[in-house]
Amino acid sequence: MDHLKIPCHVAIVMDGNGRWAKKRNLPRLAGHNAGMKALKEIVKRSSTLGIKHLTVYAFSTENWKRPSDEVAGIFKILVHYVDRELAELHENNVKVSVLGDYRKLPEDAVAKLEEALERTKNNTGLQFHIALNYGSRDEILQAAVAIAKDAVAGKLEPEELTEEIISQYLFTKDIPDPDLVIRTSGEKRLSNFLLWQSAYSEFVFCDAYWPDFTPELYEEAIAEYAGRVRRFGGVK
Ligand code: FPP
Repeated sequence: MDHLKIPCHVAIVMDGNGRWAKKRNLPRLAGHNAGMKALKEIVKRSSTLGIKHLTVYAFSTENWKRPSDEVAGIFKILVHYVDRELAELHENNVKVSVLGDYRKLPEDAVAKLEEALERTKNNTGLQFHIALNYGSRDEILQAAVAIAKDAVAGKLEPEELTEEIISQYLFTKDIPDPDLVIRTSGEKRLSNFLLWQSAYSEFVFCDAYWPDFTPELYEEAIAEYAGRVRRFGGVK
């Protein structure tokens, strides 16, 4: 890999767990379990490649519409993952953060996540952001409410509002915008993920279902990114 072209921030829509399971006549949760294993490898490879920020879309504000046993199962997998992996994440200097209102998750998941946030808060390696109960429109709505309140309270002049200030009201405050957004499973949608932040991101769509997304496919996606010319609306 050409390290000069390594993206600073990669964001991933981990799609296709359900179809991966269906193809094998397995329950959907088996797909999420396999997805968790894939995620583990992608986190490790992100660290090795020197990527600074990795954001994964793990549970959206819309995912609550799924059957309750699937929802509960996803959070169980999350608790299990943190239980098993936190020591290694910490050893690898990974800093965990959560994007989204994770306090609405089941109690044990909230407690585990807080343990991970606390334990890794001073780490300086890969920043691993897990989007949980995350929806971009909801994020922008909450920012608009907070900005309006600050304006009413006299803390902010409406005319002085800038894009940078808006960014500071989002869950992603202090995180640079994603350079590369990857979506697996052949679907080509953003699905309410980082709408504001991905204004100038490069997109790579991969046909593999998420559990089949290997570090090798990840490096292929990064190589595709590295070959693109980014103009940010200008001319090069
Ligand atoms: C999308 O596949 C995947 C999800 C909605 C959940 C992602 C969850 C994991 C990778 C494991 C759990 C990880 C955490 C951090 C909670 P899909 O179910 O939409 O697949 P389909 O489109 O084929 O049905």
